[in-house]
Amino acid sequence: ANYVLGFDIGGTKSAVILATTDSTLRARMQMPTRPQMRDAETVLSELTDLARALLEEENISQDDLAGISVVCGGPLDLEKGLICSPPNLPGWDNVPIVSFVQERFHLPVVLENDANAGALAEWLFGAGKGASHLIYLTMGTGIGGGLILDGKLYHGKQGLAGEIGHQTILPNGPLCACGKQGCLEALASGPAIARLARESLMYGRHKRVLSMADGKPANITAEHVIAAAKEGDNFAQGLLEEVGTYLGIGLANVLQILNPECVILGTIAVHAGECLLEPVRKAVAERCWARIAAGCRILPAGLGIQVQDYAAVAPLLYRLHHEEG
Ligand code: BGC
Ligand code: NA
Ligand code: ZN
Repeated sequence: ANYVLGFDIGGTKSAVILATTDSTLRARMQMPTRPQMRDAETVLSELTDLARALLEEENISQDDLAGISVVCGGPLDLEKGLICSPPNLPGWDNVPIVSFVQERFHLPVVLENDANAGALAEWLFGAGKGASHLIYLTMGTGIGGGLILDGKLYHGKQGLAGEIGHQTILPNGPLCACGKQGCLEALASGPAIARLARESLMYGRHKRVLSMADGKPANITAEHVIAAAKEGDNFAQGLLEEVGTYLGIGLANVLQILNPECVILGTIAVHAGECLLEPVRKAVAERCWARIAAGCRILPAGLGIQVQDYAAVAPLLYRLHHEEG
C-alpha cells in the first residue's frame, strides 16, 4: 500500500487528506462541520462520502491504502476509540469513531487528538525536527496542546495530557465552551478574538475591523482582526497584543513546568505571525524563569498553513515508520 488517508474533524470545518506512505501530501477535500445544526452520524457520513470522492478523483483504490488516521479535538477515549463531548463538537457524546470508520473501510484506524497530531507533524516534518522536548499549540475554534517529552508523544493516564487551552488564566474570566471560567481557550481562540473585537468596538470608533466585516459586528472573525493588524491598524494590533499576552501567560506556565526546547504555534498564529508572536514572547519572558525562557525557542509552525493537513496523517505515518513491530 502506497497511501494513507487522514480525517481531520474540527469544530468549524472537517477535511480528508490523502498522502503517500513516504509522507508527501497528495490531495485534500474539506467541508463545513456545522455541529450545531446536525448530529455526529450525519457529519461522519458526509466525511466518508468525501473520502470516497477523493479516492475516486485521485484514481486510488482502497487496496492502495495502508490505513486511516482520524484526528479530532478532545476529550477522546483513545483506548475505546470514542469522541467524548469535545467543547467544540456539542452533542458528540461517546461517538464510536474508530469502529464507524473501520466498518466502512475495513482498514487499520488510528485515533489521535488534533493538537497531539500537530505536535507529531511539526516534530517529524516541521520546525521541531530533531527536538526531544517540544510543545505544540494549535489555536482555531479551540486551543489545544501536544507534548513531545523525552522524544515521545506524552499521553498521560487517560490520553488527556497537554490540554493547554483549558488551564485557568483569569479566575472570573469568560465562560469557556468546556464549562469552566477563564480558560485560555475562552480568551485567545478564534471565536474569543472575534468576541473581544466586538466587545471593544462598543467603546470606540475603530472602523477598520468593522468595515472588513461589512459593517456588521456579528460578522467579525479573527481573520478580520489579523488582516487589520497586518495593515497597521492600532486597534487590531492592540487586540492581538492582549490575546498574545494571555497565550504567553499560558505558555509560561507550561515552560516553567516542562522546560521544553521549543514551542511551536500553528493555525491562527501562522496567519498572524509577529503581530501575535511578539507579545507571546514578551509575556513568556516576563512570566517564567529567564534560564528557562532562554532555552526555549518560540516559533510559528514550520509547515505553515499545511500543518493541519500533515497532522491529519502524522499519527498513522508515525506508526508505520517508527512503531513497526
Ligand atoms: C480541545 C482540545 C483540542 C483543541 C483544538 C480544545 O477545545 O479540548 O483537545 O486539541 O480544542 O481542537
Ligand atoms: Na492534546
Ligand atoms: Zn475550557
